[in-house]
Amino acid sequence: MGDGSAKVEIGGNATDYKVRSGTVGPDVIDIRKLYANTGAFTFDPGFTSTASCESTITYIDGDEGILLHRGYPIDQLAEQSSFMEVSYLLLNGELPSKAELEKFTYTISRHTMLHEQLSTFYRGFRRDAHPMAIMCGVVGALSAFYHDSTDIADPHQRMVASHRLIAKMPTIAAMAYKYSIGQPFLYPRNDLSYTGNFLRMTFGVPAEEYVVDPVIEDAMDKIFILHADHEQNASTSTVRLAGSSGANPFACIAAGIACLWGPAHGGANEAALNMLREIGTPDRIPEYIARAKNKDDPFRLMGFGHRVYKNFDPRAKVLSKAATEVLDKMGRNDPVLDTARELERIALSDPYFIDKKLYPNVDFYSGVILSAIGFPTTMFTVLFALARTVGWVAQWNEMISDPEQKIGRPRQLYTGAAMRDYIQVGKR
Ligand code: CMC
Repeated sequence: MGDGSAKVEIGGNATDYKVRSGTVGPDVIDIRKLYANTGAFTFDPGFTSTASCESTITYIDGDEGILLHRGYPIDQLAEQSSFMEVSYLLLNGELPSKAELEKFTYTISRHTMLHEQLSTFYRGFRRDAHPMAIMCGVVGALSAFYHDSTDIADPHQRMVASHRLIAKMPTIAAMAYKYSIGQPFLYPRNDLSYTGNFLRMTFGVPAEEYVVDPVIEDAMDKIFILHADHEQNASTSTVRLAGSSGANPFACIAAGIACLWGPAHGGANEAALNMLREIGTPDRIPEYIARAKNKDDPFRLMGFGHRVYKNFDPRAKVLSKAATEVLDKMGRNDPVLDTARELERIALSDPYFIDKKLYPNVDFYSGVILSAIGFPTTMFTVLFALARTVGWVAQWNEMISDPEQKIGRPRQLYTGAAMRDYIQVGKR
């Protein structure tokens, strides 16, 4: 592709297409005129070879196991920064100065409360509702409350909606948890950090003071950073597609939450821990490895494999280390961690996993940490949604401000019946 163009020949008719290069990563063939020129579509279900947009936010090199946000490696961000700082970076493009970070943190803290009427929505759900079901409903309902931030043509309103979503998500998530266990909701406290406030609203009770444990706060913040954005994954693409029609931001994020819930995406952290618990002890691992390799068995090793990473998921590396640190610091000895480590060792030396380049992904170790902190498995994907909200709004903002943005409208390869005449029901 050195000449910067690619030729497509259909039925002896050749047309040229520009090849565009990004800062790093694969070139793309700009085929936007392909249909007009040739009458043909491309066919790429699952978008394995399709760049759906131009973006400056996140870069992944799946072969090398690299993840960059605005150019900064994820391990450096996870080890050295905070979730508020990463949120600012994703939204604004640059790391904040000290004053900018303080202002941003202050702004977010001033949006943490929910309209009081929203708390009545929770009472409409069954107590045993999955918290992701509640999240979808309540976040979608935000669009009925904050009318002063739904004019998507106004950059200021877009930013207010973004701040509101980042700020209110911990309150919404904690209330979903409190509702499921029948405890009173706790209002946010703005003297605490973003993450400390979330922990208090989740694990505190109004009857006594809650003291935030710095070890847990730090681990939780790291988990939030690691889930903050991940390029054009399924839920982000859902948010972009929903937003491309001009839908309001809260409804778009609710669509992202719905997509994230699936077990092949955000729901995998819940499934991974359930699987590790089901395996129970390292001696049962070979049985599960055999099942994962059996073509006739739909079972997959949850927390293994990734559409983009054909190497270690860099987020899994950070979390693998953090899992040991957190459990050690908390003085916990969880046999699930031993099972996870042994499963990783066995899978990574098995030709099936080596040949298919299946490595642990972010969900493999996050569940071990979250369960040690005290979250039930049903909350895992909620925490993913909370953290990913900043990525969703950053990508949504980028899309809306892109002058080349159009409504997302894929085409298809139609293999149904060709035109035929209607036959009256009595004659069929
Ligand atoms: N266990 C066993 N075999 C697997 C697994 C697995 N976890 N993942 C993929 N394979 C096999 C699959 O059977 C297929 O084999 P073959 O070529 O013989 O048919 C091959 O590897 C390629 O799999 P694929 O389904 O075509 O790959 P994909 O890119 O469409 O799927 C995935 C990616 C993440 C959906 C898949 O690896 C998977 O289902 N993993 C388990 C669920 C999981 O952990 N998801 C979390 C992803 S990371 C969090 C996030 O970003 O949301």
